[in-house]
Amino acid sequence: MLCSSDSSDFYGIELLVLTGTTEHPVTIQRVPARTSAVEGPPVTIPAQELGRLEILAGQGRVRSIIRCHGQEVMALAGPHAIPTLDASPRRDERTPVCLDPGTYIHWESGIAVIANLATSTRITVPGEVVAQLLGPHLPAWQAQLLLHAGVLQKGPTPAGEPGRWWSFEELLSYNRSRLGTHLGEYGGSYTRATAHGSIPEWTDGSEGAPACEPEPVVAAGRTLGECLTNRHSRRDHSAPPASLSEVAALLTRSAHATPCDPDPGQGTALYSLPYPAGGALDELSHYIVVNRGVHRGADLSHSVFRYDHLSDAITPVAVNAAACDRLCALYARMGMIPPDELQYLILVACDFPRLSHKYESVAAALMYKHVGAWMQTASLVAEDLNLAVCPLGGGPADILDSLFTEATTTTSGPKVVGEFVVASRPAAESAGYAAAKSDRRTP
Ligand SMILES: Cc1cc2nc3c(=O)[nH]c(=O)nc-3n(C[C@H](O)[C@H](O)[C@H](O)COP(=O)(O)O)c2cc1C
Repeated sequence: MLCSSDSSDFYGIELLVLTGTTEHPVTIQRVPARTSAVEGPPVTIPAQELGRLEILAGQGRVRSIIRCHGQEVMALAGPHAIPTLDASPRRDERTPVCLDPGTYIHWESGIAVIANLATSTRITVPGEVVAQLLGPHLPAWQAQLLLHAGVLQKGPTPAGEPGRWWSFEELLSYNRSRLGTHLGEYGGSYTRATAHGSIPEWTDGSEGAPACEPEPVVAAGRTLGECLTNRHSRRDHSAPPASLSEVAALLTRSAHATPCDPDPGQGTALYSLPYPAGGALDELSHYIVVNRGVHRGADLSHSVFRYDHLSDAITPVAVNAAACDRLCALYARMGMIPPDELQYLILVACDFPRLSHKYESVAAALMYKHVGAWMQTASLVAEDLNLAVCPLGGGPADILDSLFTEATTTTSGPKVVGEFVVASRPAAESAGYAAAKSDRRTP
């Protein structure tokens, strides 16, 4: 891409500073272009004003709108929101530029959003202007803005790669959750609660179904030290199946939610949980998929139950039987367990809006951390309940959509973010507890 250095069509900048939730225009003192040799824009920002604005921009509180002939052509928000146009290239210079390898573009309501994974600057461009930005005749002043924001780099071809050991997408999700390369606010800002209101409701169709009457479950009474020392992933599902009540007891002890005082500012319900969770919002829910299981002597195979965090009730959920079979086969394979031996699969689903109504930038990272915290808690509880458990690493994004017969309002409904297989232990292993580390395997 070449940029032409004709800046004659440059019109002007409007700077807006965010105070609270309102944007206020900033009056920029007009200063003539510095020298006749440099093709400067009609305005520059005096140094003393620039310092203050740059601090505010670094806090994400400045947005600049660039207009040509009265038409908005670009808006910049974030640390590069203050355009540095006072050193534009000479009129006849033709500078080759190309997209930085970390740059990406996506659409939001007909507006192109241009961003780069190395910065938290966000550039919005009206749909009809975006082709010009990516085309061969980019005006020099626009190229300069995009170079400054890290969206373009000098040279005819990209100079580097995002990373040999990290893909673009991996770096993107990591950087966006880290302070400085995040987008929007950082942490518990309640931005989306303010913008979109209350957390959306969803249903899985289990409402009103009679809960299963649990059988008593006796724990071994092992110490925390014993559980920590002996915990390991156990994949032997060959024994007669554990009871549904044992799996329910595992969830009661690892995921029961006790309501505590609501958030004093927003009134959001908060919960005390057996595992640490940022925000204490209890966004994780658990489903038990039975491949081979029993309840009160009855065969339960190929059924699904929802665990209620508050009441500990286990309630059947109507599911698509073929999807349920496919899931069991998939996760048996993933856990290296013979498909006809697999006993129980726990799906951990996240009600993401519960997290994202409060947290911005860190919500997805928090969700994954919480799954890990629950997995360790459940692994230790499983030691005490004599259950064999193994966490699993992933699976399809649309599990619940294919599993539930009742629609879960797909975009805002829960998504599976963790999986865990559960089984009874072979009698010999339960008996010789301390010595049992025999079925270790690394996938
Ligand atoms: C988050 C997570 C994901 C995992 N994913 C898989 C998996 O997809 N397949 C599998 O067979 N084991 C999986 N495991 C089990 C690990 O392979 C196992 O924990 C690891 O080998 C360490 O062994 P240990 O748990 O006995 O200490 C996973 C474990 C964790 C914590």
